[in-house]
Amino acid sequence: MAETVALSDGHTMPTLGLGVAMNEECAETCKVALQNGYRMIDGARYYENEVQVGVGVGKSGVKREDIFITSKVFHDDFTYDGTTAALKDSIANLGYCKYSLLEVGRHVLPPTGLSWTARRAGMIRSVGVSNYSENHIEEIREAGLEMPVVNQVELHPFCQQKPIVEYCRKNNIIVQAYSPLLRGALDNPVIQELSTKYSKDPAQILIRWSLQRGFVPLPKSSQPERIISNGQAFGWSIELADMAKLDALDRGKEGAVTWNPVDVD
Ligand SMILES: NC(=O)c1ccc[n+]([C@@H]2O[C@H](COP(=O)([O-])OP(=O)(O)OC[C@H]3O[C@@H](n4cnc5c(N)ncnc54)[C@H](OP(=O)(O)O)[C@@H]3O)[C@@H](O)[C@H]2O)c1
Repeated sequence: MAETVALSDGHTMPTLGLGVAMNEECAETCKVALQNGYRMIDGARYYENEVQVGVGVGKSGVKREDIFITSKVFHDDFTYDGTTAALKDSIANLGYCKYSLLEVGRHVLPPTGLSWTARRAGMIRSVGVSNYSENHIEEIREAGLEMPVVNQVELHPFCQQKPIVEYCRKNNIIVQAYSPLLRGALDNPVIQELSTKYSKDPAQILIRWSLQRGFVPLPKSSQPERIISNGQAFGWSIELADMAKLDALDRGKEGAVTWNPVDVD
């Protein structure tokens, strides 16, 4: 699981991360993940578990500098003072000196100048966005700000976000895939068929699809055995014809399983 992807700001990011949303007691989860090869944790201040992430990192025995940790600023904090206070609070919660990536959630645009100010102050290393459409990112460009290095959106075979993915590719923005496991609804016949064919569980099929499509999946699990198996998505591949079967599941916006606010103005 040592694979990484290059970001446009010169840093690198692991190609798979552990999601910790809706997992308040995630210290053990983070520890297990890190001890089993994960090097990225996708957190957020509003998940209300940043202290737990810091504890898990500490207990894992993995050096902090080898771990990529994301936090997110929510729209409630979109003022200069609000963003600064939120970041300081996040860093204090985590117990380490800085975050690897800060993602700016959508609603007030263009907010990201605040984040780049924070980067200059050494509080974060890279700046990304979450749930941004092409138009939202273009507002960043039009404001004369640096482009984000990552856009995190809901992304799985049922909701492939083709317009934003194509836009991100053209602009050298890496796409992180949230809810890559359909929030656990894995009973689709195509996924089940491929699970049997490859002797992999359905979650591994979805994670492998995401990796082969060049996304950075962020599967969440609070169960150690699942965290380990979800990480076993490397060293094997899905054949092109089977990738096409998964591609054919796309239902556009109708296929979303979360709030997917990418297209909201
Ligand atoms: N930026 C945003 O707006 C946003 C929105 C949503 C999510 N995210 C990020 O993306 C991460 C993942 O998304 P998500 O939590 O919505 O959904 P997800 O990763 O698609 O699915 C998580 C669900 O799948 C289950 N699961 C995990 N591994 C499994 C396996 N091997 N077999 C069967 N079921 C399995 C989990 O249950 P157990 O825990 O019981 O294993 C949980 O119920 C979040 O944690 C968060 O970091 C970001």
